[in-house]
Amino acid sequence: MIHGYWLKHLGIPGAYELEDVTPEDFDGFLLNLAAHGYVGGNVTVPHKEAAYRLVGRRDAAAEAVGAVNTVWYEDGALVGGNSDTHGFIANLDDRAPGWNVAGCRAVVLGAGGAARSAAYVLSERGVEVHLVNRTVARAVELAARFGPRVHAHGVDALGRLLRGADLLVNCTSAGMVGKPRLEVGLALLKPSAVVYDVVYVPLETELLAAARIRGHRTVDGLGMLLQQAGFGFGKWFGATPTVTAELRMLVEDDIRAKTPQ
Ligand code: ATR
Repeated sequence: MIHGYWLKHLGIPGAYELEDVTPEDFDGFLLNLAAHGYVGGNVTVPHKEAAYRLVGRRDAAAEAVGAVNTVWYEDGALVGGNSDTHGFIANLDDRAPGWNVAGCRAVVLGAGGAARSAAYVLSERGVEVHLVNRTVARAVELAARFGPRVHAHGVDALGRLLRGADLLVNCTSAGMVGKPRLEVGLALLKPSAVVYDVVYVPLETELLAAARIRGHRTVDGLGMLLQQAGFGFGKWFGATPTVTAELRMLVEDDIRAKTPQ
């Protein structure tokens, strides 16, 4: 739906299609993408590790987070990138301009793939990142990967960390439809802090609703999804797509129609 919208609006005679590829066939398929008629694509589970290994070159973000989910050709060679990092930060810049205040501190909840992308790209922007995860060992492992600007904590440190935070990001799956609630009190957060949830089903999570009611600027996960799509689109079709209000509404309607109320 997203790529189809941009293709139509930009008048590009292309398509974004689904291919069901088994692990046995994946190497051959990816290494011969052009022969299958593709200029690139997105790769999802369980093929991300294989894609990381198979591409001729990786961009800096893919290399740093250790995951490739977008591929395209440059001078005939297959390149691998990571759209999560781009989508995460492009959405934050778009929805909360000026978020990166002097001495900016972020609290990132989680230590999975989403947190990894957030920690990398926030630390690249000079932000002091505090990862808080239920399983502290995973946060410690992530922090070790990204150097001195990224710190790891268990959930017991959350209250103290929230007091000093300029940005709070949920990168856990808690709060998603069908998953447990996210238990985070916002009372200690300073009023100027921005609250970002990468979860987009529901469109407004309990965390974002609570933050909005308290007067915080909020950033939702749907914007990240749309910006992620824009990253691939630009690489494949050579045109920069815009995340318009109309596109957002189309996708919102689709999510609402598919979400149990
Ligand atoms: P992804 O790649 O999408 O980030 P993941 O690797 O499965 O997904 O990571 C999910 C994250 O959500 C983890 O940080 C997980 O915490 P653990 O490392 O302790 O498992 C976190 N998470 C999932 N459910 C949670 C819950 N109910 N409360 C707190 N954290 C939760």
